[in-house]
Amino acid sequence: GKVLLAYSGGLDTSTILAWLIDEGYDVVAFMADVGQEEDFEAARTKAMKCGAVGFILSDMRREFIEELIYPAVQANAIYEDVYLLGTSLARPVIARGMIAAAAQEGCQYVSHGCTGKGNDQVRFELGFYGLQPDIKIIAPWRIREFYERFAGRSALLEYAASKGINVTQSKAKPWSTDENLFHTSYEAGVLEDPNHTPPADMWKLIKAPEDAPEAGEKLVISFTKGIPTKVEVGSTGKTFTDAVDIFYTLNNLARLHAVGRVDIVENRFIGVKSRGCYETPAGTILRAAHIDLEGLTLDREVRRIRDAFITTKLSEQLYNGLFFSPEGKFVRSCIPESQKTVNGEVKVKLYKGNVIIEGRKSEEQLYDEKFSSMDELGGFEPEMTTGFIEVNAIRIKRFGVGQIAKGLG
Ligand code: ARG
Ligand code: SIN
Repeated sequence: GKVLLAYSGGLDTSTILAWLIDEGYDVVAFMADVGQEEDFEAARTKAMKCGAVGFILSDMRREFIEELIYPAVQANAIYEDVYLLGTSLARPVIARGMIAAAAQEGCQYVSHGCTGKGNDQVRFELGFYGLQPDIKIIAPWRIREFYERFAGRSALLEYAASKGINVTQSKAKPWSTDENLFHTSYEAGVLEDPNHTPPADMWKLIKAPEDAPEAGEKLVISFTKGIPTKVEVGSTGKTFTDAVDIFYTLNNLARLHAVGRVDIVENRFIGVKSRGCYETPAGTILRAAHIDLEGLTLDREVRRIRDAFITTKLSEQLYNGLFFSPEGKFVRSCIPESQKTVNGEVKVKLYKGNVIIEGRKSEEQLYDEKFSSMDELGGFEPEMTTGFIEVNAIRIKRFGVGQIAKGLG
């Protein structure tokens, strides 16, 4: 049989590659470019040296931004109030890239190096099945023969060395990471003690607030139907409108100004708790700016329904790997309708870890100074509000009867 393996170039997936060959498979190594900093050529060389019959690199950055990140920004997606879902968001595009590559290469099997305790195995595999129900999956870290043989790093290192796989490169970090253009994650290793403060040199991209420049940075971010379409950078006067450029620009500025680090103990889909640290530079700025613009442009009740159902369900579906599901499709179909009026621009200041909103404007704003002003009679007669309060008081008065006497008031 022929296997398409999600390959990272690291020790685990290089070992899996060699092991699959030992098991009698032909292996094509697959890498998705989702904006991670990576030497793809070195990975290709390594995969071929391990014995792969082919190597596929698929640039999925634009698809990742436009099909996954944009809807997440439009819906203010967030998991358990803290995590902006950077790893979860990349999984559907990677799964789709893999299924396409498997078809192109004539692979009946797909394989990955996810552990048997995490979310990623669920996300990838539900994605594979949602895209191609008859695909066969090989998950070595859930195959007894494999996980017993390779328990512990030394067994992996020994086997890799015996296969001539270069394991001398960089010294392993005491945590595991996942990286793409939206975020970097840190989990496991020393972070498994939830009270262990992350070492300062763990954070790869985003500066510490105390190291950020005193000057700060001002931005004007424009949204069209809730999607970021333009970024103007105050200090340089430069303007960016391309999806990928907008992301790289906001990422670089957020990193410099210490925006986007979080540390959380989260609930994994399979039921265990897990401690994770995440850097989400551009995503943190965009979420704050987008929420602000909705204040000016989004109807109150649309917002409430969206927050209560769409935001929560979308976030949960992304986290749990239910992107390619009927409920996923349904929930995502509600997003554009909620964003029709979310057009305009937001003035933002980045300063030592903070995203400070400094103003916003829109040609379609629902905000109306005439109605809202404290200084002006206008929009409606103050007299009319007396009736509004009286009618609302019917129920309150009924409930209020005797409350003071009962000592409950
Ligand atoms: N806990 C996060 C999530 O479930 C990050 C997972 C990181 N994945 C990885 N293979 N290192 O989305
Ligand atoms: C893994 O288990 O492979 C990484 C962590 C996760 O998927 O939750």
